[in-house]
Amino acid sequence: MALPQDFKAMVVSETAEKNFVREIKRRALSDLPAGELIIEVKYSSLNYKDALSASGNKGVTRKYPHTPGIDAAGVVVDSTTKTIAVGEVVIVTGFDLGMNTPGGFGQYISIPSGWAVKPPPGLSLRDSMAYGTAGLTAALCVLRLLAGGLNKEQGEVLVTGATGGVGSVAVGIFARLGFDVIAATGKTNEEAYLKQLGAKGMISREEANDTSGRPLQKPRWAGVVDTVGGNILATALKTAKYAGLIAACGNAMSADLNTNVYPFILRGVSLLGVDSVEVPARARNMAWQKLAGEWRLDLSGDLITECSLDELNPKIDQILQGGMRGRVVVDLNK
Ligand SMILES: NC(=O)c1ccc[n+]([C@@H]2O[C@H](COP(=O)([O-])OP(=O)(O)OC[C@H]3O[C@@H](n4cnc5c(N)ncnc54)[C@H](OP(=O)(O)O)[C@@H]3O)[C@@H](O)[C@H]2O)c1
Repeated sequence: MALPQDFKAMVVSETAEKNFVREIKRRALSDLPAGELIIEVKYSSLNYKDALSASGNKGVTRKYPHTPGIDAAGVVVDSTTKTIAVGEVVIVTGFDLGMNTPGGFGQYISIPSGWAVKPPPGLSLRDSMAYGTAGLTAALCVLRLLAGGLNKEQGEVLVTGATGGVGSVAVGIFARLGFDVIAATGKTNEEAYLKQLGAKGMISREEANDTSGRPLQKPRWAGVVDTVGGNILATALKTAKYAGLIAACGNAMSADLNTNVYPFILRGVSLLGVDSVEVPARARNMAWQKLAGEWRLDLSGDLITECSLDELNPKIDQILQGGMRGRVVVDLNK
């Protein structure tokens, strides 16, 4: 297959004044690292981590200039492995993509074959990126809670950061499974959106953020998907029911967790960590299969905003400010 010499990509550069600028530029294909697969990216998506990379967060991306994009879905155009052939479609999320390896905000990526997943039947490239890392993470959280024994008879479940990418998909999956799901959000004006996703109720971010100083509060949640960390995660621990299960996957509020042992030793609460970046293939594939089948959400409605690479810049600022609703799919063909 004839490959182009260069391609369109977002390039984030560091200026002499230590500012970071984002531009849409042509990048040479020869600039990409050596890899087993070269993929023509058809769709990518915007995650919180991309916004960190695109704004100079050195905890995510050490060296600039850099092309962010931790998600990519596209067609293999060059392969040195027997397991994936030229012409096959693949999904790539996590590992080092978009961190220190040029990512999905460019029309081509070059990666080790172990990073690629073949999409389950029925999941288009566009829909795989409608979920993206955020959707995969939400599915991994729910899988972890169900594996721990959570079921809908045990009572209400809470999702924090509910209008965000991970939060929205988690609300949708829980609703699809018949749980009574309560959405905790800073955007209380988005009640209609959350109800449409299937939330039974909503609480404000303030209500989810207990500042009383009490070691425990009235128990309410059988399960929690927490995407924000900080005192909201500490509050979820204090308000979990006996044997409650809490999946922690994010730090949009804070990476700190100041808590005490009482939820664990008096209520038998479990705190479960969820990572989507290095998650082994078995769990990764199972999550994609659930998202494509049994847990499939309506990916045509309000959950998704689509944009081109040229339209992405303001959306990066919006997600950094906690102002994004749902998921943003980036169409690299436009
Ligand atoms: N463990 C993993 O593998 C993994 C994978 C993906 C994402 N993550 C993490 O999960 C988190 C969510 O990612 P995302 O892509 O869904 O981001 P997102 O779309 O920006 O959603 C985050 C949501 O958190 C809430 N929020 C933002 N700032 C907050 C603050 N200061 N205090 C309390 N709530 C706040 C907002 O929702 P409301 O306005 O509705 O409250 C926001 O929409 C991020 O921390 C991300 O790094 C982890």
